[in-house]
Amino acid sequence: MYFAVPDKYRQASDDELIQWIKEAKKSYGDRMLILAHHYQRLQVAELGDFVGDSYELSKNASERKDADYIVFCGVHFMAESAEILSGDNQKVFLPNPLAGCPMADMADIEDVMNAWNYLKEIGIAAQTLPLSYMNSAAELKAFCGREGGLICTSSNAKAAYKYVFDRAEKLFFFPDENLGYNTGRWMGFSDDEMVLWDFRSEDGGIDPDKLKKAKVILWKGHCHVHTNFKSQHVDEMREKFPGVKIAVHPECTWEVVDRADAVGSTKFLVNYIDEQPPGAIIAVGTEINLINRMAHRHPDKNIFELSGQICPVCANMYRTTLADLANTVENIDSFKKITIPKDIQAEAKLALDRMLEVH
Ligand code: 13P
Ligand code: SF4
Repeated sequence: MYFAVPDKYRQASDDELIQWIKEAKKSYGDRMLILAHHYQRLQVAELGDFVGDSYELSKNASERKDADYIVFCGVHFMAESAEILSGDNQKVFLPNPLAGCPMADMADIEDVMNAWNYLKEIGIAAQTLPLSYMNSAAELKAFCGREGGLICTSSNAKAAYKYVFDRAEKLFFFPDENLGYNTGRWMGFSDDEMVLWDFRSEDGGIDPDKLKKAKVILWKGHCHVHTNFKSQHVDEMREKFPGVKIAVHPECTWEVVDRADAVGSTKFLVNYIDEQPPGAIIAVGTEINLINRMAHRHPDKNIFELSGQICPVCANMYRTTLADLANTVENIDSFKKITIPKDIQAEAKLALDRMLEVH
């Protein structure tokens, strides 16, 4: 996809861009809603009418029926979810259309259908409900809706597991093996009860007898930002800073979340950091823009990223610039809105509505 911001915006100063965004926003009043995820760069987040985690943002999109234009500063699956949950007369825009999520791309619908058909062949699909993380394409959400399953985010994964096990014997979790595995462990499942489906093998690379006995089937997918944090980073920080609080996102591996003091969604991490007393030392295992924003907000606390070595940036979240946002809000009627085929939208909405119910 080719995407370039017009020269007017590329050549403008940050102050000019901010002023244009504010003016355009003002002219639309409540008819325009700017939503921003916690991983957006500081200046973009500051212009959001609402900044939140992916659950809160989708809830906001579903509730703000007065907004004709929803400008979503985040990544593609988030804008798609907002489009599914908003009303027919509302339009959703992604200021930088190249902002995707590599983890969501790891669960291609064709691979998912091949896996599901295999489960049917060996006779276990009827006892299985699909559960997809919000970080997934609309087609995968539609599959979950059609099959009686649902969507979760990192803030309601346990409640979604409960929803599934109240109705089925097995759960198929897409596409984050880490959030899926961590939630399985918190819900009391053992390693013997959880298997990892490798979509590159026709049989998932799992012995059929093991698959038949499994309670939780995890799709092989991960976030390349969060899996950079390692258990040794936790150990090193504890040694270097006695009393340090370690707070991480559940997309990190089990070896990291199990050693942390606090684990939760981006909203949870923001609240946790806000609540620590002045002077607190907090090492955070998540995306760098959230961490920098928190360090900026709390100069009286020592807030830094957990590894001490890597820069955990989500390049896709970082794609949205002030220039993209100004270009979108000033030219919104000529900008391409997010569109999803009606049938996919209807089935995906079933799965997202179930998510909103179980929170
Ligand atoms: P949250 O739902 O916690 O905001 O996380 C979304 C995400 O993409 C984290 O990498
Ligand atoms: Fe996707 Fe990871 Fe970026 Fe979240 S941080 S949007 S999971 S790539």
